Amino acid sequence: MLTVRTVRQMRRAAARMRARGTVGFVPTMGYLHEGHLELVRHARARCDSSVVSIFVNPIQFGPGEDLDRYPRDIARDLRLLRAVGAGCAFAPRIGEMYPPGFATRVDTGELGRRLCGRFRPGHFNGVATVVVRLLSIVRPDVAVFGQKDAQQAVIIRRVVRDLGLDTEVDVQPTVREPDGLAMSSRNVRLSADERRAAPVLYRSLELARDLVSRGEDRPAAIRARMRRLIRTEPLVRLQYLAIVAPGDLRPVRRIAGETLVALAAFLGQTRLIDNVLLCTGRNAAGRLDTGRG
Ligand code: PAJ
Repeated sequence: MLTVRTVRQMRRAAARMRARGTVGFVPTMGYLHEGHLELVRHARARCDSSVVSIFVNPIQFGPGEDLDRYPRDIARDLRLLRAVGAGCAFAPRIGEMYPPGFATRVDTGELGRRLCGRFRPGHFNGVATVVVRLLSIVRPDVAVFGQKDAQQAVIIRRVVRDLGLDTEVDVQPTVREPDGLAMSSRNVRLSADERRAAPVLYRSLELARDLVSRGEDRPAAIRARMRRLIRTEPLVRLQYLAIVAPGDLRPVRRIAGETLVALAAFLGQTRLIDNVLLCTGRNAAGRLDTGRG
């Protein structure tokens, strides 16, 4: 596996890969887990070469968020990537991604202010900015994202379409622990008691799925039942619980067709997010549609 630290080297390596065939790209912030590694395996299976970036992007963290405490272990990450057969790891320093004078931000508008965006102003602009910068360096045929960060996936798909970038956004299902907790780099920061309480989040999403499958179509009724379940775990402080259309992330009045049930919660200092995509009718696979931007 090639390990690359500078933008210049990455551009050259990516050009060589493109000359040999298709390139799949998985952007990450490192501290890799099985969720990331599934995306890498998928990129490898779909494309002739694969690139994985590891970069804890400072501009997507707000003041008081966990940038300094974000878990990092680059040596372990590189070992894991080698083991799953990634072609190239791109681990730039901050100054490579944001040289002095860097001033541009991609504005994600309304989509970036909904759901998590209400509580993390500027977060999705920071995500979109780094992803556009990474895509312009690697120029992949396919960029693979996780359904775990549903709003991020929706926004990146919109950015790629709006800016006319020549990359397909491919969204893959959330990888979970055996008890249902969505894998996340932040899970290592949960105390033993918080870790025991955390799966209630996914259980509440399964409850929503169950209620809808039995004909419930009123978002307020579903949210009330979910809240009641989550309240049985006093260590879990729900930040938001939203039932929205996956296209525009606006709350729906009735559940019909594709509906995204998304939540964020604090366990102590650790903020976790999770979601499920409900499908009444067609596309029962439970994931976001994929498509070229
Ligand atoms: P990070 O949180 O490291 O996630 C990198 C990718 O892995 C994202 O597409 C995310 O949705 C996916 N992922 C995380 N946990 C997952 C799980 N349990 N199952 C499936 N996929 C999972 O998301 C980011 O980094 C950053 O915002 C980034 C896009 C790299 C921009 O800085």
